[in-house]
Amino acid sequence: ASETVNMEENMRMTLPDSIQRWLRAVGEEGARQHLRTYLIGGVVRDIILQKGNEDIDIAVEGDGIAFASDIASKWNGEIHKHEAFGTATITWPDGLKMDIASSRTEFYEKPGSLPDVESSTLKEDLFRRDFTINAMALALHPEEFGNLIDHFSGLEDLKRGSIRVLHNLSFVEDPTRILRAIRFEHRFDFAMDHETEAFIAQAVNAIHALSTDRILAEFQRLTAEMPPAQLFHRLQKLDVLSAFLPGAVWDNTAERLLPYITSLQSSLFMTLLPLFLQESGRVLSAGRVAVRKQDKQLVRHVHHLLDESWALSIERPGDFHRIAAHVSPLSVDIAVYCLEYSARQPEKASLLRQYQEKWQELPSWISGADLRRLGLRPGPLYKFIISETEKAIINEEITSSQEALNYAEALIHSCQP
Ligand code: CTP
Repeated sequence: ASETVNMEENMRMTLPDSIQRWLRAVGEEGARQHLRTYLIGGVVRDIILQKGNEDIDIAVEGDGIAFASDIASKWNGEIHKHEAFGTATITWPDGLKMDIASSRTEFYEKPGSLPDVESSTLKEDLFRRDFTINAMALALHPEEFGNLIDHFSGLEDLKRGSIRVLHNLSFVEDPTRILRAIRFEHRFDFAMDHETEAFIAQAVNAIHALSTDRILAEFQRLTAEMPPAQLFHRLQKLDVLSAFLPGAVWDNTAERLLPYITSLQSSLFMTLLPLFLQESGRVLSAGRVAVRKQDKQLVRHVHHLLDESWALSIERPGDFHRIAAHVSPLSVDIAVYCLEYSARQPEKASLLRQYQEKWQELPSWISGADLRRLGLRPGPLYKFIISETEKAIINEEITSSQEALNYAEALIHSCQP
């Protein structure tokens, strides 16, 4: 065995005092009950890297739920048990949350098991994880507090900047790990090792079997951390873009148009993205995306926007004024995107841009009060006349407030017997 590495100093430097006190208390209570307790998962990686992380995951070699119940009642924690998973979440009075899990008790409880079976249960738990850098533990038992448990050379990979799976079926078991790998590559400026990258090809069928929700959830985490362009480029390079987003292609057009939608909130972004990435610019099939109920409405609007018929009659920016209903459920940015993407309508997109700019700076040359002064009785004509006058302003047929009044007056006369 290699020599023990102790991370107590790193823990002191990176964890808030309150968390450190809880961890020591957990370790001591575990020791009293002859149970070993460990800090595991992403927080261990971040302690080594000296980065802040307050996601506290604890593994107990034994019955984690029973242990969690004990300490929760001892120190006034609020406990939620997830019996099916053998885990519990405790919220302490100071607000700190802690997840407590059992390392596989079935091994631990086997009669006549070897004395060192305790560490093998932890090893099992760690072996089921995604990458070596996330598969380390820190002992909390007072006699070994802060000792690093590193069965799979996670520390070395962390120093080398390497994302490495623990076994060849890791991505097949959980293909969202491919997306996690990309996220960690970007976050830490790391890279998957060659073997890990090669395993991805075997997971394509498993990717197809993933649920929409899991994919979107993971994409949301990703787009919160890295520029979408980089993400799609990476997925394309790994040859799994269309496995995750059926029909998606990453090409120059898609890249050029991306800025239009990157400003959207990420859920909306993720919903629209696969549609926009389709080469033809038409919604071939909403596929994965439309499965989500709350997105269906949105997808319908996009369909509508991509439908040429409403755009055909648009010749000047002012023509958009009265068809605002086609655009309004989505932002103008998305509408522009749809029109641009649809290869047949780039000129409409530029008209829409012009319309948007003009609309934002529309001078207030005409109002209801003006129409009253012109002698028009309040009624349904108001909306029509104001809208027609604004359209003429946007088309620059009218260039002063006097002209606007004249225009409105002429309209009033033409509309009334
Ligand atoms: N894990 C895994 N496979 C997954 C997701 C998670 O093996 N698909 C394991 C990893 O060991 C991970 C731990 O569960 O460290 C906790 O998951 P999560 O909180 O999602 O990840 P973190 O590594 O903490 O990432 P982040 O820093 O983004 O929270």
